[in-house]
Amino acid sequence: MLPKRRRARARSPGAAAACSTPSSVLFPDVAIYLAEPRMGRSRRSFLTRLALSKGFRVLDVYRCSAPEGPAGAGVASSEVTHVVMEQTSAEEAVCWQEQEATLHPGCPCPALLDITWFTESMAAGQPVPVEGRHRLEVPEPRKRPPNPVAPAPAPAAAVMPAYACQRSTPLMHHNSSLSEALETLAEAAGFEGSEGRLLSFRRAASVLKALPWPVTELSQLQGLPHFGEHSTSVIQELLERGVCEEVERVRCSERYRTMKLFTQIFGVGVKTANQWYQEGLRTLDELQEQPRRLTRQQQAGLQHHLDLCTPVGRPDAEALQQLVEATVRQALPGATVTLTGGFRRGKPQGHDVDFLITHPEEGREAGLLPSVLRQLQSQDLVLYHQHQRSRLGDPSRLAQQSHTMDAFERSLCILRLPLPSKGADPESQPAWKAVRVDLVVTPWSQFPFALLGWTGSQLFERELRRFSRKEKGLCLNSHGLFDPEQRTCFHVASEEDIFRHLGLTYLPPEQRNA
Ligand code: CTP
Ligand code: MN
Ligand code: MN
Repeated sequence: MLPKRRRARARSPGAAAACSTPSSVLFPDVAIYLAEPRMGRSRRSFLTRLALSKGFRVLDVYRCSAPEGPAGAGVASSEVTHVVMEQTSAEEAVCWQEQEATLHPGCPCPALLDITWFTESMAAGQPVPVEGRHRLEVPEPRKRPPNPVAPAPAPAAAVMPAYACQRSTPLMHHNSSLSEALETLAEAAGFEGSEGRLLSFRRAASVLKALPWPVTELSQLQGLPHFGEHSTSVIQELLERGVCEEVERVRCSERYRTMKLFTQIFGVGVKTANQWYQEGLRTLDELQEQPRRLTRQQQAGLQHHLDLCTPVGRPDAEALQQLVEATVRQALPGATVTLTGGFRRGKPQGHDVDFLITHPEEGREAGLLPSVLRQLQSQDLVLYHQHQRSRLGDPSRLAQQSHTMDAFERSLCILRLPLPSKGADPESQPAWKAVRVDLVVTPWSQFPFALLGWTGSQLFERELRRFSRKEKGLCLNSHGLFDPEQRTCFHVASEEDIFRHLGLTYLPPEQRNA
């Protein structure tokens, strides 16, 4: 039972006031409740003051909104997202929550967390992602059976941070068919130029990828960020009927299929694809009949289309790395080649292979790329390449351009990858295949930013930049991290340093599959 003092307070209509709010709330999605049993009152008030000083909200009572209370009376206390306990065993914690559940039937149960989550969050200056080791959980049979009248508890719903860069997103997750449906709608919105809708669907899909459990009931979406009406109704239909009519309609539509076909061609973006569609073009054959209208890049894309729309596997990526590395080292001893993009995030295949090239002595990298390409050309390995010169100038100006493409020297290529001959009849196998390769050269001092920027995923990068801008007032791009108020750039030696400057817990590449 609750102590009398707290029970009385919990019933009072003024309970909303029982929330300690910092002068500026930095994390509106987080509301901490420090459970007293083993903590003691003075320790609890010390921790409360600490959390407030770091911009966290701390709720003084833990309970659901009182239905009879005046509007809004219980709002603050129904919002608890993180229950924190100290020196409490998982069994004790679950007993405590069972008691609370009988007092407030139907309330969703926020995660019960050990004090380590709290101290790590205070040290990081922001809520760290909840991991298994933070949770006070009892293995299955001891657990409270689900209450049939209550909504299914959403184990992590209440603790999902809003930005993709604040949470781990592994490659393999529990909600593929749901996230793929939302991503189809995102892609279709992109084809119509609806950037806002594209982002809404993509962010909702990304939240599903980060969930450590499969969504099986709609109530589990409660409290998750980025689930608006549309995404929620798509998930509802998928859960109830197994298919979503809108998604199926989109997938079968001539518009979606044609736009997908055209945008898959190297060098073709949404604008060009749309123009062709409006002119009535529908197939690759029809395109090929009008070669004069195509850029050199698109012609190469079409010429090698079959190879280029076949996913590149990891063995191919590794073979290319060896080939590029040997050529780069020969041209400039000491230069390094780093495999980045999807392969660095652990993807088994991709649409291209991305490499970053640098040299530990700043400036030595200048002029390297043309000589690498000449070398590759002399071995007849270049099927197409488009060299873009470096536009690096004043780094502080570069750091402010958060939306434009980076200014590194690069070459977007199609390389000829020789294939090992397998089996008895080499005649029947192709000797090579065309692979899309991005070669990007960065000065050593900007390498960590370039590595972070080119590792992706694309949504992860967008979210990281949005987080930097909105939450920290800083501009992040592939060249640097810039403080527009102080007019200074941060110097870093690693990706870890960048996360640290942003007050984020470091996420390894394989957890950036947002
Ligand atoms: N990128 C970039 N500037 C570009 C192109 C790409 O900064 N002009 C970044 C993107 O943010 C992306 C990463 O580089 O996250 C890799 O791009 P891309 O090869 O398109 O995507 P992957 O994630 O590697 O996907 P895939 O495996 O299909 O290649
Ligand atoms: Mn890639
Ligand atoms: Mn690429």
